[in-house]
Amino acid sequence: MTQSLKVPKSAARQHPKPPEGTWTEHYPELDTAPVSYENSISPEFFELEREAIFKRAWLNVGRVEQVPRAGSFFTKELAIAKTSLIIVRGKDAEVRAFHNVCRHRGNKLVWTDHPAEEVCGTTRKFACKYHGWTYELDGRCSFILQEGEFFGIDKGDYGLVPVHCDVWQGFIFVNLAEEPEQTLTEFLGPMITAIDYPFEKLTQRYYYRGDINSNWKIFLDAFQEFYHPPILHGHQNPVMRQTDYQDKGFYTSHFQIDGPHRVGSTTGGAGGKLVPEFYNPSEQLFRSGLFGPWDPSEIVGDALPPGLNPGNKKGWGLDSFQIFPNFAIVFWETGWYLTYHYWPVAHDRLIFEANAYFTPPRNVRERLAQHLGIATIKEYALEDCGTLEATQMGLESRAVTAFPLGDQELMCRHLNKVVDTWVADYQKKHTEG
Ligand code: FES
Ligand SMILES: [Fe+2]
Repeated sequence: MTQSLKVPKSAARQHPKPPEGTWTEHYPELDTAPVSYENSISPEFFELEREAIFKRAWLNVGRVEQVPRAGSFFTKELAIAKTSLIIVRGKDAEVRAFHNVCRHRGNKLVWTDHPAEEVCGTTRKFACKYHGWTYELDGRCSFILQEGEFFGIDKGDYGLVPVHCDVWQGFIFVNLAEEPEQTLTEFLGPMITAIDYPFEKLTQRYYYRGDINSNWKIFLDAFQEFYHPPILHGHQNPVMRQTDYQDKGFYTSHFQIDGPHRVGSTTGGAGGKLVPEFYNPSEQLFRSGLFGPWDPSEIVGDALPPGLNPGNKKGWGLDSFQIFPNFAIVFWETGWYLTYHYWPVAHDRLIFEANAYFTPPRNVRERLAQHLGIATIKEYALEDCGTLEATQMGLESRAVTAFPLGDQELMCRHLNKVVDTWVADYQKKHTEG
């Protein structure tokens, strides 16, 4: 006898209003219904995201320390916008962004060993490898080989194509729209621009990247909820090793949403606050581990920098600010910060970049503590990577099409909603236009 294959109706049921005392209660527009992840498995939706999101939002591409002096530059590959950018500091100290394309016959202007690889350096001018057309640091075209052979050509008309570029707290943002709908400050909004952190003092940077087979939002979601760590990272995370969390779950102490951006804050886990058996011998020896060095860095004073711990919670340990669409800054109580970038490549692939910033180590012990912190965090993220490739595979089966999200997954629900809203808004404008 065969069982009848009945699809549960739960996804179609009316869903209750969020009860009092929940985080979701404060954001009724988010609803409580199960969500669809069709927007993470559809190649057609991915094509819409290029225009509707990544060519409209301000995107962080780096920090001013990467272009310290006139002529310092780096390139940024933006597969999602099918372009590459040159970010360069001019002789007037201004940071500018240009499309990395020669105006003669379209050769990619700046690259070294392989045209798809990002490069950085210092230069006086940019000369094209193909026929030698040359551009100044401010994008002006200053040399055309055999200029007289061309027909009525004026170098003044052949500068590099500029991209809108602005800086907030040392973070360089670009906007690929012809005319951005908002200034960078308007786009970031009050919750993000309230942050006033001594970023310029944290110049010791550690970088790693991963090429991952998952949609950018599926991957990002694992970095914006603390519901999974006791289970997925139960063995590696010294806080989550406590059986209590594995049985009862871990709770985010504060959620806040402002426009398309969001933040989650939690209590701390760093600083060797737990009983010794929760730490590995190496963690105890180096006084460092998953949450970075245990000893506070020199920037940690009596008061937190403005904008941090927006919920003013006791026992604050970290803030995870999610800046729409694909940029996150995580501030830690011991005085260091991490940034994450989720660069979409295809509907089922992204480049994940992590940067950790510390004050320069004053001795070998501090340097080793920073290295151990980063090595452990990288390991931690690898646990996410494997799982999220598996999530992508599960979603693509389309065997299940609606997924319940809890109150602790508020930020995931919000990202999903903002993405759909931006795409719908773009489509509406496009149709009207
Ligand atoms: S394509 Fe660059 S000089 Fe010809
Ligand atoms: Fe994780």
